[in-house]
Amino acid sequence: MTDTRVGIVGAGPAGLVLSYLLHLQGVEAVVLEARSRSHIEQRVRAGVCEQPTVELLREIGVGARMEALGMPHHGLSLRFDGADHRIDLTGLTGRCITVYGQQEIVKDLIAAHEEKGLPIEFGVSDVALHDVDGDRPRVSYTDADGHARELRCEAIAGCDGFHGVSRPSIPERALTTFERHYPFAWLGILARTPPSHSELIYTHHERGFALHSMRSPEITRLYLQVDPDDPVDDWPDDRVWSELQQRLATGDGFRLREGPVLEKSIAPMRSFVVEPMQYGRLFLAGDAAHIVPPTGAKGMNLAIADVRHLARALKALLRDGDPAPAAAYSDTCLSRVWRAEHFSWYMTSMLHTDPATDAFGRRLQLSQLRYTASSRSAATSLAENYVGLPFEGA
Ligand code: FAD
Ligand code: DHB
Repeated sequence: MTDTRVGIVGAGPAGLVLSYLLHLQGVEAVVLEARSRSHIEQRVRAGVCEQPTVELLREIGVGARMEALGMPHHGLSLRFDGADHRIDLTGLTGRCITVYGQQEIVKDLIAAHEEKGLPIEFGVSDVALHDVDGDRPRVSYTDADGHARELRCEAIAGCDGFHGVSRPSIPERALTTFERHYPFAWLGILARTPPSHSELIYTHHERGFALHSMRSPEITRLYLQVDPDDPVDDWPDDRVWSELQQRLATGDGFRLREGPVLEKSIAPMRSFVVEPMQYGRLFLAGDAAHIVPPTGAKGMNLAIADVRHLARALKALLRDGDPAPAAAYSDTCLSRVWRAEHFSWYMTSMLHTDPATDAFGRRLQLSQLRYTASSRSAATSLAENYVGLPFEGA
């Protein structure tokens, strides 16, 4: 039996940033993670950090490597009708995004925990939450050596992603679920080849969406819209490159650089929100509470925005005896969550090719793309959502 103030389930961006913020505010916490350290440090996922995310990581002192290796981007391209239409993010908003891999942020946060001696237990199993509606909730689990353990705390943060145990620990009657499924998925590859363009390219093409991104001057990250039932084996490298070349082709001879494929996986796309994000002393944060389709590049950024509020709420509750910010936690987060849900749905609907749509639907999409590319106000709306709205109440 271990006593701590906050039990944090999951060492993704939400759990790690929360743990570190709590440390800075003098609130003791323990992080429990099901996977190994090397697994979560290698898992290839998000790449786009909003400006508020970058500022937060910098402020809390874990931004040094991001500053050295991250790539600030001041614009992006919408590619359709075989041509690029640049959205000048910085010109329109005064802000920018930084391309820096999620697993690099995870590495930086784990290193910061290590340096300060903050506890993260990797490789735990059988995690179960108890008494979450009382003042002394508990987390039982089996540690990496196979010993049964229990963490007695004053609050639990469910940061264990969409498939974790935290959300299902809340009685179904206490939650309302909002959901939308899409008839496509993203196949993502990481390739050892320099980016073919200096900025991200979001491409609408009749064969399906494609995205050109990057991780470094030597590594390109690319995504393709595929059928959600496609096994990854149906996509040998040759087929992936041929499809990318066709979708990214332009009238002025753009050439996509090819190279060895280092990683390949297919991710489903969905929109999902539960309300409220709290039940008793259990607070959900990040993908445990909401999922967005990746087209808006919002998932990791939202996870970090949630825990920024949660750290303040837990400090007020546990150190200052003020329950008001904790009571407002869910509503405070949900307003940003729904903005991101709308933006991600809008980007997804505008850019993908829906196999069930008709000629009318395709004309509407093209009209929306042309309007966004040609109207300063439409482009500004895209840009200010993309670079990240300021934190509410910050
Ligand atoms: P996670 O990162 O999922 O972390 C949850 C952790 O909990 C995991 O480490 C998991 O192992 C652990 N866990 C699960 N169950 C248990 C358990 N029972 N006990 C203990 N631990 C448990 N977002 C962006 O902002 N920008 C992007 O550009 C972007 N691109 C993306 C591209 C792809 C292909 C994908 C798949 C996602 C992308 N995202 C993006 C989304 C982003 O990766 C997620 O939203 C983000 O990982 C959410 O962080 P989290 O901490 O909430 O959850
Ligand atoms: C990346 C991921 C996204 O979801 C996105 O919209 C843009 C870039 C990336 O992994 O680089």
